[in-house]
Amino acid sequence: MRKRVYLDHAATTPLDPRVLEAMLPYLSDFWGNPSSLYAEAQEARKGLDGARRGIADLLGCKPQEIIFTSCGSESAALALRGVAYASHRRGNHIVTSASEHHAVLHTAERLEQEGFRLTHLPVDSEGFIDLAELEKAVGEETTLVSIMLANNEVGTIEPIAEAVRIVKAKNRHTAFHTDAVQAVGALNVGVDGLGVDLLSIGAHKFYGPKGVGALYVRSRTPLLPQMLGGAQEKNRRAGTENVAHIVGMAKAMALAYAEFEARNALCSALRNRLLEELPARVPHTHVTGPTDRARRLSNSASFCFEYIEGEAILMALDLQGVAASSGSACTSGSLEPSHVLTAMGLSLDLARGSLRLTVGKENTMEEIDYLLEVLPGIVSRLRALSPTWPEREATEARAAGEKPL
Ligand SMILES: Cc1ncc(COP(=O)(O)O)c(C=O)c1O
Repeated sequence: MRKRVYLDHAATTPLDPRVLEAMLPYLSDFWGNPSSLYAEAQEARKGLDGARRGIADLLGCKPQEIIFTSCGSESAALALRGVAYASHRRGNHIVTSASEHHAVLHTAERLEQEGFRLTHLPVDSEGFIDLAELEKAVGEETTLVSIMLANNEVGTIEPIAEAVRIVKAKNRHTAFHTDAVQAVGALNVGVDGLGVDLLSIGAHKFYGPKGVGALYVRSRTPLLPQMLGGAQEKNRRAGTENVAHIVGMAKAMALAYAEFEARNALCSALRNRLLEELPARVPHTHVTGPTDRARRLSNSASFCFEYIEGEAILMALDLQGVAASSGSACTSGSLEPSHVLTAMGLSLDLARGSLRLTVGKENTMEEIDYLLEVLPGIVSRLRALSPTWPEREATEARAAGEKPL
């Protein structure tokens, strides 16, 4: 049987065996509660402290500016809700963008239901926010801006450093959060270069374990804890820390930064081949996301195919041994086109035909060639069945041996 080809690294990545090895002692020998004072707790505490220092060093911040959480979504929710409620006496306005991950978007919308004023910045056809619109949106009352560093569906890298400068010039009290969940590993993320006050990460996007994340919070940023009942994380997030997973996240991050050049060179080469070859081999295909490759994640290639549904392509690819994603959300049985693609101005029909291919460090050019070999046939077969395919009659006629008109 053919080996499976995994091209969905934006969804999650496999656990690096070196990360598992680093985690194992904390799942067996060092089981103590890191908050306790006796000897059994000491190794767990050392592991936790070491992981915090390691992650802080890589991000270029102080260890006490790192809060461990259960995932990227929790980090984003803590950032948004924590800042909004801690600052509500100063103002009640929050700014975000239309192409954020639902972790940010739904949290911001919940805050709107709770009485905060929310501005969604539009994005252009490549997924970029408009910095002039951002400047216009920020006012006296704006306590928080949340714009993602890199988009999970189309790989757009937002100009965060510039956005922070614009926001701070308009209102120096406005806190800036960036969702960097897709960026760590694919970009050399550091908080000083970006100038942000808060930054969310999640370990399973860079070969770490699932169910663990972190939030960077610059010293003196107002933040109201959202989880109560314990003094962990300096009273900012209650709950006994998941020591083994936190140690794993730190190890995975250290590897991602140490191997950054090699991983990026491989991923860019694989991504570039996809971006060049797929539209050449499959007619009526659109590349979505930035055309400037320096402004798109090195591991991300995304497309829309006219006349067919992305989900049908995924199922056919799965049968051929390839794991990919459509980038669209499946809501209560109805196939909702992606809010990112529609925010970029794509029609609903075109957005339904989306395919996201995200490569990783274990992929090879042979695997990309295999995808390029099987996908054109899949698309043609699906189009031949599609009621909207304009060449359907000709295809049917050919199949029946007739000469098309
Ligand atoms: C941009 C972005 N933000 C947040 C998240 C949520 O992260 P987690 O799965 O760790 O909760 C994801 C996950 O896909 C993401 O891509």
